[in-house]
Amino acid sequence: MSELRTVRVPLAERSYDVLVGHGARHELASLIPSSARRAAVITQPGIPVEIDAGIPTDVFQIGTGEDHKHLGTIESLCRSFARVGLTRNDVVIGLGGGMVTDVAGFAASVWHRGIPVVHVATTLLGMVDAAIGGKTGVNLSGSSGDGGKNLVGAFWQPSGVICDLDALATLPPRERRCGYGEMAKYHFLTGDDLLAMDETERIARCVEIKADVVASDEREGGRRALLNYGHTLGHALEIETGHEMAHGEAVAVGLVYAAHLARVLGRIDDERVQQHLDVVGGAYELETSLPDGVDHTRLLSLMSRDKKALTSLTFVLDGPSGVEVVPDVSAESVLTALDAMAASRR
Ligand code: GLY
Repeated sequence: MSELRTVRVPLAERSYDVLVGHGARHELASLIPSSARRAAVITQPGIPVEIDAGIPTDVFQIGTGEDHKHLGTIESLCRSFARVGLTRNDVVIGLGGGMVTDVAGFAASVWHRGIPVVHVATTLLGMVDAAIGGKTGVNLSGSSGDGGKNLVGAFWQPSGVICDLDALATLPPRERRCGYGEMAKYHFLTGDDLLAMDETERIARCVEIKADVVASDEREGGRRALLNYGHTLGHALEIETGHEMAHGEAVAVGLVYAAHLARVLGRIDDERVQQHLDVVGGAYELETSLPDGVDHTRLLSLMSRDKKALTSLTFVLDGPSGVEVVPDVSAESVLTALDAMAASRR
């Protein structure tokens, strides 16, 4: 096993370690709380990672795809926990990508009013984002204003997280791209030259950046919103394309858009816009343009319904003091930046 990196998420009594590296899964038993006599592993068919928690284990599969990320899945898992006698002292293990860890974390947060959970992230997106920081939840179905993504959930910090880079060798190219979309945002949150780092260092640094942000604002009262860099347009594109664009792909385009918008607002210069293009399109080879034929006015309307936009159009934007939350962006600037982005591909 090559050397593992340990990143601490410092949250007082809820602090925990994230182990990053090839073969990290072999350290799983060291993250299991000593009170646990039994583990419930929540995973999906086809996850190519075998784990050993060192205690008797039951495995529960959930369906693949957002369609299965709903309250019915939580109820069914809780019934399974009841059948095997999972107690408050035991542990849930989420083994999979972001959907699995979101669901496993939420099931753990409500079972017996909350039991420990350990995540074993098997996708890049899970490793650099979803498995870290304690956001858990499921979607609420509904298309007439009574539903939405991740609307029901809880902040429930894991007791530990494993990021075993061996899992990335079998990652389908699209899932890898989605991970790169989330990873790209970290290039702009600090001054680090992430491209100069090898894969292990770079993933560990992304985890460290996220840990630092979460530690300073666990429940997203302010700074944690920076982790949504690129997500305002990203979410709108996911919806507008009927989820044909996956989350990470949409975030990649959203990062480039955020740079154009910051440029329109005079917050950054052309060179900084180019740096966004170089990272997103150059280093990670992700799409940097809006999809053909997408309606800018509809995107504007979707962005004005974004969760950050409590009272006005609000974006996370780069600027002279770094990336920050910027409220009260005018609709005109938003549309001008969309047009600038569309024009730049011609
Ligand atoms: N995925 C953004 C966050 O954890 O806050």
